[in-house]
Amino acid sequence: MKTSNSTLLSRIKDRTANVVVVGAGYVGLPLAVETAKAGYRTTAFDKSAPKVDAINAGRSYIEDVPTEVVGPLVKQGKLGASVDPDVLGKADVIIICVPTPLNKTKDPDNSFIMDAADLIVPRMHAQQLFVLESTTFPGFTSEVLLPKLSSGGLSVEKDFFLAFSPERVDPGNPKFHTHNTPKVLGGSGPKSLEHALALYGTFIERVVPVSSTDTAEMVKLLENTFRAVNIGLVNEVAIMCGRLGLDTWEVIEAAATKPFGFMPFYPGPGLGGHCIPIDPLYLSWKLKPLKYNARFIALADEINSAMPELVITRISDGLNDRGKAVRGAKILVVGVTYKQDIDDIRESPALDIIKLLENRGAAVSYHDSHVTPAAMAHEGLKTPSATLDALESFDCVVITTKHSDVDYGALVRRAQLVVDTRNATKELRPQNRDKIVSL
Ligand SMILES: NC(=O)c1ccc[n+]([C@@H]2O[C@H](COP(=O)([O-])OP(=O)(O)OC[C@H]3O[C@@H](n4cnc5c(N)ncnc54)[C@H](O)[C@@H]3O)[C@@H](O)[C@H]2O)c1
Repeated sequence: MKTSNSTLLSRIKDRTANVVVVGAGYVGLPLAVETAKAGYRTTAFDKSAPKVDAINAGRSYIEDVPTEVVGPLVKQGKLGASVDPDVLGKADVIIICVPTPLNKTKDPDNSFIMDAADLIVPRMHAQQLFVLESTTFPGFTSEVLLPKLSSGGLSVEKDFFLAFSPERVDPGNPKFHTHNTPKVLGGSGPKSLEHALALYGTFIERVVPVSSTDTAEMVKLLENTFRAVNIGLVNEVAIMCGRLGLDTWEVIEAAATKPFGFMPFYPGPGLGGHCIPIDPLYLSWKLKPLKYNARFIALADEINSAMPELVITRISDGLNDRGKAVRGAKILVVGVTYKQDIDDIRESPALDIIKLLENRGAAVSYHDSHVTPAAMAHEGLKTPSATLDALESFDCVVITTKHSDVDYGALVRRAQLVVDTRNATKELRPQNRDKIVSL
């Protein structure tokens, strides 16, 4: 006789389960596309009506997700979107991919997850699988989300199943996408893990089970802390090389020829994006009441957060050498997104640099083909955009992100002064030492 448990498992295995992805952003939309491609009838539930309308019109609003992929899935009836929370009640599987930012005091803000849970709980029914993908601190799933989902009277491992699976999406990465990036999974119990493994095994090449949701949460924080700390280290190396009169990039590239025991990280104008600047602080916050001070995290945060100020010092020194002040200078910031060839400006250090320059009285413009004035306005900036046609007219051009569509040779030839925070002018520096200042 089939138990009700095996019914959900078999529906997952034969791909007849209905999947709802809560939050169709940088993580949720690519995931919804994968579950739909795997054959699951998938609904992206999002509070943003424009995003829902775009999906239902077969249009993608995320550069990594081609419209040519979304369109046919919508036409086939495999993918749809809704702002109506009642879709949650019709789901067999609910995957939560909502934001997890920091609040003003740099403490974790899990309110988006709790808002989603508030919508889910009154619509819960027996035999559902819930997976949290939003990054959070170790213990959130077991200590906060599980009690919330159980508050309606249903029991985990019996009536419903719960897992945590950290998202590892790397926007703009041409090689690794959702389906070929190994996926770590931790369950609230063996049955939860079994259900989650069955689901992700249908569309992810390699699934990596771990012993608990707490472990899976910690895995994500280790990965992102590793990056934040190593970037902090290499930013400090850039500061030291500056004092020593050495080219940081030359030093790193030579060190990277060591075939073992060294992994190159590169300095930059500061951390950006929704993960690396934020996630390690989730971990240090969790450790505080346990009377442990996560020192590497605090130090990396201090160094990385100070990088925009270092860039301002480099700009003002370069202008000073030419008898100019930051106040009144015409400055063009080239590349505003937090990394190359993507359209995401969240937490981008270029925004801090623009604000610091504007506060000092500079006349700042920006150039970035991936960034609209509306996106800048969303960040509270009225900075005008500029083409690269009048480079000669700027007192200083600052490269804050290296994009493939910028001709850096022409930029260096025509600019009066270039401050390069990304090694975009590597080949051009030897002949242009008087013009280029690098990190
Ligand atoms: N962007 C990345 O590169 C990345 C990588 C790894 C992990 N993550 C993690 O994944 C999570 C999501 O990040 P993201 O970049 O996709 O965020 P995002 O802002 O791009 O998308 C989140 C979406 O959730 C929607 N939303 C918010 N509250 C909602 C609610 N209660 N109900 C329905 N929809 C709601 C928003 O409208 C938005 O469309 C975060 O925890 C983040 O740390 C992100």
